[in-house]
Amino acid sequence: MAEYYLELKGVSKSFPGVKALDNVSLSIRPGTVHALMGENGAGKSTLMKCLFGIYKMDEGEVFIEGKKVVINNPDEAMKMGIAMVHQELQPVLPRSVAENMYLGRFPTHNYGPLKVINHKKMYEETSRWLKEVGMDFDPKLPLSALSIGQMQSIEIAKAVSHEAKVIIFDEPTSSLSEKEVDVLFRIMNDLRDRGVAMIYISHKMDEIKKISDDITIMRDGTYVGTWPAAEMTIDQIIARMVGRELTNVYPEHKDTPGEVLLECKNLSSIHEKSFQDCSFQIRKGEIVGFGGLVGAQRTELMEAVFGMRNIKSGEVYVKGKKVDTSAPRKAMNAGIGLITEDRRGNGILGCLSIKDNVGVSVYNKNLKAGFVLNHPKINSIVDDSIKKLSIKTPNMSEAIGNLSGGNQQKVIIARWLANDPDILVMDEPTRGIDVGAKHEIYEIMVELVRQGKSIIMISSEMAELLGMSDRLYVMCNGHIRGEITDQAEMTQEKVMSYATQF
Ligand SMILES: Nc1ncnc2c1ncn2[C@@H]1O[C@H](COP(=O)(O)OP(=O)(O)OP(=O)(O)O)[C@@H](O)[C@H]1O
Ligand SMILES: [Mg+2]
Repeated sequence: MAEYYLELKGVSKSFPGVKALDNVSLSIRPGTVHALMGENGAGKSTLMKCLFGIYKMDEGEVFIEGKKVVINNPDEAMKMGIAMVHQELQPVLPRSVAENMYLGRFPTHNYGPLKVINHKKMYEETSRWLKEVGMDFDPKLPLSALSIGQMQSIEIAKAVSHEAKVIIFDEPTSSLSEKEVDVLFRIMNDLRDRGVAMIYISHKMDEIKKISDDITIMRDGTYVGTWPAAEMTIDQIIARMVGRELTNVYPEHKDTPGEVLLECKNLSSIHEKSFQDCSFQIRKGEIVGFGGLVGAQRTELMEAVFGMRNIKSGEVYVKGKKVDTSAPRKAMNAGIGLITEDRRGNGILGCLSIKDNVGVSVYNKNLKAGFVLNHPKINSIVDDSIKKLSIKTPNMSEAIGNLSGGNQQKVIIARWLANDPDILVMDEPTRGIDVGAKHEIYEIMVELVRQGKSIIMISSEMAELLGMSDRLYVMCNGHIRGEITDQAEMTQEKVMSYATQF
């Protein structure tokens, strides 16, 4: 058997204005998990899309078991035993689990010239493949009834059902709970034992150390090198990714909070199972973390403060004045901004340019003579944010949909910074963002509070929550279970003890 099951050699790919890949190689051994790492925009997803036949490479060759192959489209890729679990899932929500699994290849009965979908077979097969990956739910359920983690397992079951020899995972865990990640890793370990080669993309260092056998690092569209995972420390990985030493990821900050800016009293959702009786306050110049497990209702609570959800009772005050929370526009006028966690659902305007995506929040503040857009002013605001957040793009008229996942997230952050709110709610602000850019975002947060702004940060990343918060609230099951003010008490154990008080 060839040492490598799959080899990519000398792959190059350009988009207008960007050389996304420049002579990149990648060799994957069978029965291993190969981590592909690099900063946002390094070219990881592009390389995988070239392999999978979504993009046509400008130059380069693909070998499977030492034999040269040409892959023109995803269909051909799948026929050659390659499957891909995408960074941005595109499930068909109203259809059933089974239909999503067999989309485009439904099993059929033939009645003479007539082909009819064989539902019975489809459901049976789906059940069987779901069991294969240790998932045991009803194949007739609509996909919309499942969590993102469960949808992901369906994608994986789909890959397994194709009997794929190579499975590409492009940031599969960015929206998974810890339990769901454990399930995914169990499945991956299983697949490894069966000799499947896996390519794994993630920005979470602890995951990389846990699951991968080999690590390939890319930087700016080029190949840096490949190493056995066991021989590299996290610091070494980071240094090779960013091309420099990055010591203190969480910038030092000693904040002296001022008067209360935002006060929420006894907020209760109209839905019984959502947040109930939540009271909290944020001072000027303070970073307040909200911890909790996935499903603790932190996002829902903040969306209500921002006027996106109805409340049954409770009040919101900004600088002592009561705020009408019936619409986001009113919350924005009161000085509240919200960076949402889900950039696909309600964050980005995919087909618009970066300029429009950032500018949309400031257009009505930058009118000349009341109605003509002040383009030079807007251009300078947008240009400034591209520099400040190091957004990787040829120019500001690029469609945001063409940016790498992490860079899209930065554009959303830039939009809110441009709008300049007094109180900024950041919901999982660094999800999908590489370590170097994370550090930049933390620095911006520290700078904002230094200017007297206040930040609420929802985060499921314990290190980030503990590293950045001046003070912490922890939620579980729709209730605020605890507040941690003393830095000495800000520990993982303390947070978890509140987070699990169901
Ligand atoms: N369809 C496209 N059109 C134009 N430019 C693109 C397109 N797809 C990717 N790019 C550019 O190619 C570069 C590499 O992007 P890619 O998505 O491969 O990065 P990535 O390593 O996956 O980053 P992330 O960690 O943020 O997901 C980026 O500069 C991106 O803007
Ligand atoms: Mg990507």
